[in-house]
Amino acid sequence: MTDKTILVTGTASGIGRETALLAAAEGAACVICLDVHDENNEATAHELTKMGARAIPLHVDLGNVDQIRAAFARVSAECGRLDASAHIGGFSWRGETLDVTVELWEQVMNVNLRGTFFCCQEALRIMYPQKSGAIVNMSADAAFHPIYGFALQAAGKGGIVHMTKTLALEAAPRGVRVNVISPGIVRTQKAGAERPFQPALQREQSPPDDAAARLADQTAIGRYIAMEEVARAFLFLCSDYSSGVNGDLMFVNGGGYPTLDY
Ligand SMILES: NC(=O)c1ccc[n+]([C@@H]2O[C@H](COP(=O)([O-])OP(=O)(O)OC[C@H]3O[C@@H](n4cnc5c(N)ncnc54)[C@H](O)[C@@H]3O)[C@@H](O)[C@H]2O)c1
Repeated sequence: MTDKTILVTGTASGIGRETALLAAAEGAACVICLDVHDENNEATAHELTKMGARAIPLHVDLGNVDQIRAAFARVSAECGRLDASAHIGGFSWRGETLDVTVELWEQVMNVNLRGTFFCCQEALRIMYPQKSGAIVNMSADAAFHPIYGFALQAAGKGGIVHMTKTLALEAAPRGVRVNVISPGIVRTQKAGAERPFQPALQREQSPPDDAAARLADQTAIGRYIAMEEVARAFLFLCSDYSSGVNGDLMFVNGGGYPTLDY
């Protein structure tokens, strides 16, 4: 990532934050951080600055297309280029289909699917004229393997996968690559921790500690995936090391899909 300019969404916590920090550790010159949680996003930016990178934290609600467009316009104006754009911000929603209101549908789909689409569109606006760039989107196991209570989540994260593969066909002749990652279970928050910017979960999303141990046993790898393992995959697909990889889906789940029995 030496001297690259990279934009990451969801940088206030979890995998997005980890990816931003790893980008700086790998030599990125400028990391643009998009998140709706300003205080934590500023803290990430502060860490990046201490590591020697230029950090630009921007308040963006990924459910708001005007805010997405304004953020990428600032990137264009202030940086003049964008080498990589990692669209990680978002959330999981788990619950019964009969509990899904139109408002909830819009909240989940607008942030996860629509937000990802318009981040891609804005990144392409900058990358096409420079004839280079890499975009990496975020999916989830629920898109590939039926998990109880994830019908709405599967629709959004499944949409991201097929959208990515289709978009790659448009982007390839213009020198831009678009790929997508699906991580396994990554424990980014303590069980029951408040997640202020996502709709109330109908089911407890993080398993209680006894179920957590069982859950890890059910995975092929026998443990949770670490945030850094997902961040490394993002940076591989953002970097020139993956120059021949386009329209691809990378699983970072240690092999196979777990069954959520909580
Ligand atoms: N943790 C897992 O096991 C797992 C598994 C599969 C996929 N994912 C995906 O990984 C991504 C990151 O999740 P995480 O596990 O790091 O969780 P996280 O809650 O730690 O991080 C999510 C980040 O996205 C931000 N965000 C949420 N809504 C937003 C909005 N409307 N606008 C802007 N920013 C918003 C949050 O503020 C937070 O910084 C999500 O898209 C999630 O669906 C996570």
